[in-house]
Amino acid sequence: MAVLVAGGCGYIGSHTCLEFLEQGYDVVAADNLCNSSAESLRRVEELTGKKIPFYEVNVCDRAAVRPIFENHKIDCVIQFAGLKAVGESVQKPLEYYQNNLNATLTLCDVMREFGVKRMIFSSSATVYGLDNPIPYVETMPTGECTNPYGWTKVMSEKILQGVAAADPEWSVVLLRYFNPIGAHESGRIGENPNGVPNNLMPYITQVAVGRREKLSIFGQDYPTPDGTCIRDYIHVVDLAKGHVAAMEYAMHHTGTEIFNLGTGKGVSVTELVETFEQVNGVAVPHVYVGRRAGDLAEYYANADKARRVLGWQAERSIADMCRDSWNWQKNNPNGYSNEKPL
Ligand code: NAD
Ligand code: UD1
Repeated sequence: MAVLVAGGCGYIGSHTCLEFLEQGYDVVAADNLCNSSAESLRRVEELTGKKIPFYEVNVCDRAAVRPIFENHKIDCVIQFAGLKAVGESVQKPLEYYQNNLNATLTLCDVMREFGVKRMIFSSSATVYGLDNPIPYVETMPTGECTNPYGWTKVMSEKILQGVAAADPEWSVVLLRYFNPIGAHESGRIGENPNGVPNNLMPYITQVAVGRREKLSIFGQDYPTPDGTCIRDYIHVVDLAKGHVAAMEYAMHHTGTEIFNLGTGKGVSVTELVETFEQVNGVAVPHVYVGRRAGDLAEYYANADKARRVLGWQAERSIADMCRDSWNWQKNNPNGYSNEKPL
């Protein structure tokens, strides 16, 4: 059994490749390295002692994708390939729509040609939009997004639902991730953002390691117990294991299913920063500043369906996430780059 991991060199993709290999599946990876390094896969090979055939291709390029299916018997595609910076998507909507939609469309088209009819898709809690009550449940309507990135997830979900509706042999699993953080416990693979991190945990770790002076906490006047925003942080290894469970589900079911992958627990920004400092014994200098546009005060998952149907649940704690994020960052102050620390 082989899975094709599109976007396999990225943060979640590399952890997912590792998890599939450890559970005895063959993995083939495709990535154009627009936001990653092939060093991540090399390290996954080192950790598992197994080889990953790697195709450095843009998955929007049909002619470049076809040889993967000619050379390997692919049973399922795990589709991570996409651009993911919310702010950048507002500046570059065409690039986001073109890349994210064409990646999924092209993969599906080639899959159809080769008779491969199982896809696991990386969606996001952002599809719940602005107005749904918390906790989010899969049956809620998808909402109004505030940015093109979010819309590409809503649209991709619709495209895949349409593909599965048109051919009863297809199996599509839409996974709505909450906030993935953490890293593999080895400290060899982890999140490696380009430039200034947009997301909270990589910013925290870069402050802790001395690459940035201080963290700005966006907003202390939200209607939450400590005034800072609440999110459902999930360990990336738990998330990766959720993909194996989803693939195993897709092997025996057809149609479309949607699952939230979260812990079901909300944690505030201040709580996350304090836990990070306590668990790791390092200071994270921070200041409270104004709200960031577009942020919701609070959201977290109802994670019951994944537990009930997939038999999967997140097992790692916030302390584990903080410890593993720091272990990765302190051992790789510049991520996968060989350059000296800044
Ligand atoms: P990432 O940027 O680390 O990984 C995405 C990978 O896809 C990168 O390696 C990139 O080089 C590759 N890629 C992008 N466009 C490509 C193309 N056209 N052809 C080939 N490769 C391409 O991001 P990640 O955090 O690992 O996220 C993976 C997926 O999960 C993305 O689709 C993202 O939108 C989604 N997601 C992420 C989060 C999160 O917080 N990290 C939350 C919800 C959903
Ligand atoms: C964001 C995106 C979401 C995307 C997710 C993962 C928005 C509105 N949402 O989620 O669509 O799926 O990233 O890529 O952009 N924070 C700080 N200081 C910082 C960074 C963040 O205080 O330097 C706060 C934020 O205000 C937020 C929390 O930390 O309250 C988490 O932020 P972040 O990691 O960016 O994730 P989300 O905003 O939840």
